[in-house]
Amino acid sequence: MSAKIIDGKAFAATVREKVASHVVRLKADRGITPGLAVVLVGEDPASQVYVRNKGKQTVECGMQSFEHKLPAETPEADLLALIDRLNADPAVHGILVQLPLPGHMNADAVINAIDPAKDVDGFHISNVGLLGTGQKSMVPCTPLGCLMMLRDHLGNLSGLNAVVVGRSNIVGKPMAQLLLGESCTVTIAHSRTRDIEEVCRRADILVAAVGRPQMIKGDWVKPGATVIDVGINRIDAPEKGDGKTRLVGDCDYESCAEVAGAITPVPGGVGPMTIACLLANTVTACCRANGLPEPEGLTA
Ligand code: GUN
Repeated sequence: MSAKIIDGKAFAATVREKVASHVVRLKADRGITPGLAVVLVGEDPASQVYVRNKGKQTVECGMQSFEHKLPAETPEADLLALIDRLNADPAVHGILVQLPLPGHMNADAVINAIDPAKDVDGFHISNVGLLGTGQKSMVPCTPLGCLMMLRDHLGNLSGLNAVVVGRSNIVGKPMAQLLLGESCTVTIAHSRTRDIEEVCRRADILVAAVGRPQMIKGDWVKPGATVIDVGINRIDAPEKGDGKTRLVGDCDYESCAEVAGAITPVPGGVGPMTIACLLANTVTACCRANGLPEPEGLTA
């Protein structure tokens, strides 16, 4: 069997189109322009690329982008003061503080200083609690993107066995909550899981979010399963020439694609969906802030 490729790049483009058309309506009917503030502390090169892409796509969808770049040595109190100002700013509907933060900062304290209604990352303890209890919340972007692709490919997920490999607060745990919300039977597997291959082989839906390049092999996959690969790992690629690298997922793509029914590629799978869902969350936050109906198809 050769798996259907779930094209996250194309799917993300349709999400952005929905966002952009909702933004047009908000402007025309209500005179409201959704705004997203992104805060970057320090000069981490990968974070700089992400933040630039977020700002560019925010503007392309017709929204306002507010970028705040602070030096790595900024005292935590200054960052908290900036968050207070953004919380109070009516032009800002979404706030994202790019992680990781420098070592002298307490990431939990910083995230929990964000107004939960503006927490478009869905990392605030209130949003975590709301999601865990099945209430309306802001949903973390990467798991939301995975859920959108799963619903699009499979339709009703009820009763399916879902295995999430990885237990991070950003992906693994919220992904498991979302799948539980879809009435899947959910297992979270991780580095200490016994017989992890066997656990994975039971999955109708296998979500890989461990950050270990090509860890999941084809013989871990149930024939016909839907495989969502969240990993983005850069590895050496001597076959491309000296010093060259390439991106791979947490799944060994070639062998998994032989067995799976459908699979997301890396790059071009989950990655593009994450920023698209950030834009979707910003529109959702803007609608909620103004007591307006939420955009259809852009929430969990
Ligand atoms: N760093 C890597 N991924 C993310 C994310 O989804 N949100 C934030 N704020 N920082 C990140």
